[in-house]
Amino acid sequence: MRAVDIHRAFEGIAVLQGVNLEVRPGEVLGLIGPNGAGKTTLVNILTGFDGPDRGAIWLNGRGVTRLRAHRRARLGLARTFQHGHLFAGLTVRENIEASALGVGASPRAARARADELLARFGLADQPTASAGVLPPGQERRLGMARALATEPRYVLLDEPAAGLNEAEVPAFEDAIRAMGASGTGVLLIEHNVAMILALCDRIVVLDQGVVIAEGDPATIRGDDQVAAAYLGLATDHGPRG
Ligand SMILES: Nc1ncnc2c1ncn2[C@@H]1O[C@H](COP(=O)(O)OP(=O)(O)O)[C@@H](O)[C@H]1O
Ligand SMILES: [Mg+2]
Repeated sequence: MRAVDIHRAFEGIAVLQGVNLEVRPGEVLGLIGPNGAGKTTLVNILTGFDGPDRGAIWLNGRGVTRLRAHRRARLGLARTFQHGHLFAGLTVRENIEASALGVGASPRAARARADELLARFGLADQPTASAGVLPPGQERRLGMARALATEPRYVLLDEPAAGLNEAEVPAFEDAIRAMGASGTGVLLIEHNVAMILALCDRIVVLDQGVVIAEGDPATIRGDDQVAAAYLGLATDHGPRG
């Protein structure tokens, strides 16, 4: 999928200023940048939760700029949210099934997807737990399971590792790699630069609504402008934006 010349301002303040970005099938693309750089705004625009002031979004060769989020989801675009957005009153299993049903899966297919994803994300021992009371790591994993329940071609993950404990990280990284290996295009927003450098095929660096660098991990690691704008700050886990 591709975003072309995306502009967005809130109350006269430019938050995205001509952003171009492509996520290719089967790649893990990292999107990094300081808090307030515009990363979540870009994900909102890519997925149809917000509209750009200018620019276009293309999905599988089709212009989708004016399509609402649920229509884009049916065309194979899924996301996770930085905070919440699970159905707190439903169980873990019901959350995954609802996501599959929402893109047109049959009840039977939704159940089968839930079985598979509960196992894949280590949630199989508590399918009937209420989603509203999950510890942060499980909530994150359920968010990813819900996104994958739509069988997306592209999945946009907005800080999915935030709140995971260290023991959960290797399985999380394996899950991201598996998404890419299965042909899904993955956009990963993550503050842990070591994780980004290890996981991503390519990395885009956003600063104040402008792409300031783009390249493979070695290129990004060696980029002085990136170091100045971001990398020095990135390994300390400050408040998230
Ligand atoms: N709905 C909104 N209304 C007003 N300002 C917003 C809105 N959404 C985001 N912003 C502002 O846009 C900037 C970029 O925010 P965001 O996209 O969340 O950055 P990031 O995800 O990179 O931390 C911030 O200054 C934020 O306050
Ligand atoms: Mg954000």
